[in-house]
Amino acid sequence: MSEYLLNDENVGVRPAGGTGAMSTFTNAEPNVPIVVIEDDPAMRGRLVMQLGERATPGDSVAHVESRFGGSPALMVLGPSIAREPGLAGAEDLLARRPDIGAILIADQLTTDLFQQAIRSGVRDVLGVPVDTGQLNEAVRRVAQTLQGPSRPAGASFEDEPEDGERGKVITVFSTKGGAGKSVIATNLGVLLAQRSEGPVALVDADLQFGDVAVMLKLAPQHTIVDAVGSFERLDVGFLENLLATHQPSGLKVLPAPLEPAFADQIGADQMNRIVGLLRTFCSYVVVDTPAYFNEVVLGLIEESDDVLLVAGMDIPNIKNVKIGLQTLKLLNTPMHKVHLVLNRANSKVKLEVGEVERTLQVKAEALIPSDIVVPQSVNKGTPVVLDAPRSSIAKSLEQLADMFIPASEAAGKKRRR
Ligand SMILES: Nc1ncnc2c1ncn2[C@@H]1O[C@H](COP(=O)(O)OP(=O)(O)OP(=O)(O)O)[C@@H](O)[C@H]1O
Ligand SMILES: [Mg+2]
Repeated sequence: MSEYLLNDENVGVRPAGGTGAMSTFTNAEPNVPIVVIEDDPAMRGRLVMQLGERATPGDSVAHVESRFGGSPALMVLGPSIAREPGLAGAEDLLARRPDIGAILIADQLTTDLFQQAIRSGVRDVLGVPVDTGQLNEAVRRVAQTLQGPSRPAGASFEDEPEDGERGKVITVFSTKGGAGKSVIATNLGVLLAQRSEGPVALVDADLQFGDVAVMLKLAPQHTIVDAVGSFERLDVGFLENLLATHQPSGLKVLPAPLEPAFADQIGADQMNRIVGLLRTFCSYVVVDTPAYFNEVVLGLIEESDDVLLVAGMDIPNIKNVKIGLQTLKLLNTPMHKVHLVLNRANSKVKLEVGEVERTLQVKAEALIPSDIVVPQSVNKGTPVVLDAPRSSIAKSLEQLADMFIPASEAAGKKRRR
């Protein structure tokens, strides 16, 4: 049982701050001084330690202003400041000084508090206990925007690059629940993140029951709800702050809402804008979807460069995929962007691949075998391409990724952590 992770963290409904080991990260922006403001000395000391030598404790927000006259600085505001009205003067300071950034640490991270903090000018909010990796990652991102980023934090949808420069959007869809969409989307995302030179994002658009975060063993601080909750402020820099990083691969993840009730807050326009922003700085945006057509899914399919239509090897799956294909045709979806992926394609279920292809009148572009290592890897929260890279299923997923970035092309490229 110890190898598998069935606990509150991976099946729970609230994100946890995580419990990363105490270590000093060095990948943050070294030139921006960090001041930790917090009344509780133990908490203040811990935050300073987590941030390493660039960080110093500060007495108050006013102290930060006087100390850093005209130069960029970053405030990490502790839970005692989060409880103060106007964030103990930080709200005023942030409105006046765009070169000063703030990250807020809150006892309990709720959507309300997050939105309130963002309205106060805070760039990111993390919950207690604070994970060292997440904290330093937030510092790095915020510090970059203070130093004049290569991509301005205020870049908006309208500033999108021309088509040729935009990342590709790959939507993984099926008209049957349990067909293997999430397994395929997570593994494809991980492989592309490893192979791609530019960033790769995975969006969980299964808004009611998305489980991408669980499959990647992420305890995200933010979800897609935070993106739409502050929609008027949504830009590239803001969206980047909401993405969780899957450390083993570097994949950037925008998780689904934590509760199904929040799904209603996200419409097709919002989803397309989020994906549109992601593709301005990501080479690939992989999108996992629910097993039915709705406004959001139709919008995504329209925006996508490629749609992976996943079908399991049984009659109900094939029947539903046939209906799905007909619907896509009715909607004038260009069929060249739809790719049939047959999952569990080696199963001895008395259904031949050729027979399925004839019925659907579409050639399968990827065959993914059935393998016990898949549910095992799902239960560990480690994608099978990392958990059992030598298995035949991992090989078949590698071939699927070859459709976008051939492994041979990726060889020699910098692999992400
Ligand atoms: N090739 C495979 N071999 C063995 N098991 C598989 C395979 N593909 C998927 N599974 C199992 O089937 C389960 C369902 O897969 P997955 O969650 O990816 O489907 P889904 O289409 O995303 O489902 P939903 O419609 O509920 O979102 C997984 O937990 C996994 O254990
Ligand atoms: Mg799924």
